[in-house]
Amino acid sequence: MFESLELLAADPLLGLIQRFQQDIRPEKVDLGVGVYRDDSGATPIMAAVKQAEARLLETEHSKSYVGPLGNLLFIEQMAKLLFSNAPEHLAGLQTPGGCGALRVLAELIMKTGRTLTLWASNPTWANHVPLLAGAGLNIQSYRYYDYKNHGLDFDGMMCDLDNAQAGDVVLLHGCCHNPSGADLNQKQWPLLLELCANKSLVPLIDVAYQGFGDDLEQDAFGVRLAAKMLPEFMLAVSCSKNFGLYRERVGAAFVVSESAEAKAASISHMAAVTRGIYSMPPSHGASVVAEILSDDVLRAQWQSELSGMCFRIKSLRSDLAAALAEASGHRDFSFIEEEKGMFSFLGLNPEQVKRLADEHAIYMADSSRINLAGLNSSNLAHVVNSVKSIL
Ligand code: LMR
Repeated sequence: MFESLELLAADPLLGLIQRFQQDIRPEKVDLGVGVYRDDSGATPIMAAVKQAEARLLETEHSKSYVGPLGNLLFIEQMAKLLFSNAPEHLAGLQTPGGCGALRVLAELIMKTGRTLTLWASNPTWANHVPLLAGAGLNIQSYRYYDYKNHGLDFDGMMCDLDNAQAGDVVLLHGCCHNPSGADLNQKQWPLLLELCANKSLVPLIDVAYQGFGDDLEQDAFGVRLAAKMLPEFMLAVSCSKNFGLYRERVGAAFVVSESAEAKAASISHMAAVTRGIYSMPPSHGASVVAEILSDDVLRAQWQSELSGMCFRIKSLRSDLAAALAEASGHRDFSFIEEEKGMFSFLGLNPEQVKRLADEHAIYMADSSRINLAGLNSSNLAHVVNSVKSIL
């Protein structure tokens, strides 16, 4: 039976990991997959996570199932992190990573039985479309990033979403837009959410980088405003980056609905969806997050580590923008400094990206999206000189 299957190309982002690992050149640089790295190029376990894990090892008393909704303390603490005042009818469910949350929400949307379109930014994270379309959603894109001007095309976005139908879902990035780094500002969020309110569009906000843009509070600006302005929306949340728990697969799906009945029905459907796919989520990562967020000392430790990561990426943004501007003589790279989170486009074409890998051992997504955190004091000059040589 498997003879009928055709070999698929590697995932565009995950395939980069393999290509990088196979490269034996000592000067190689990994600017591919969105994983935080320190100045030595390592992705260390956060000290707050280590401490929480040590405590859990001592205190965990059972390996029995966590239940369909997952760790309830984790859900409660995540809701506090996201909202200053949690909306009245908020339902939450622990998921295997942000991907699990996106898929469960897509399946939930399908359960409403309406023919719905989900609008995604152009561009959006490469895995959004397979994850969401895989559940059966019809995907359309709205203008978002203006490659020529290296910034958000807000007018184009508003114009395209004005064509959406009542009940359509709008996928938004809560902060640190992946792949562009170009975020909505605090003047644009209200205008966008007003459009959603007027046209009865329902946002699905993907929050994968809270704390990596400015800080935990400012990065939740859009989510908190949605809670004030909209009766219904959804959140897909990941703890991969801000807790560094990538391989533990920790995330949450939240639904804000208009009534207690709609809330109860949504949670029952999400639980049924998870039961039909993976039954229930794993325990460890969510227990670590719950332990950290519910303990003042551990939480302060975690916040300070997270701010350190955010600060390091911001400094790398400034260093790279200045070095590229100097090396290229005339080009304006100031957009790199203004963008938020882990990613920015360098503005190179796929041929130039390929040359960087082949000739200089520098790896990035074909779109020229780079993970800023892959830069460090030892490789910045090599990256800048290599980019200069292919421009
Ligand atoms: C990325 O965009 O590189 C990360 O979110 C990792 C992934 O799973 O794609």
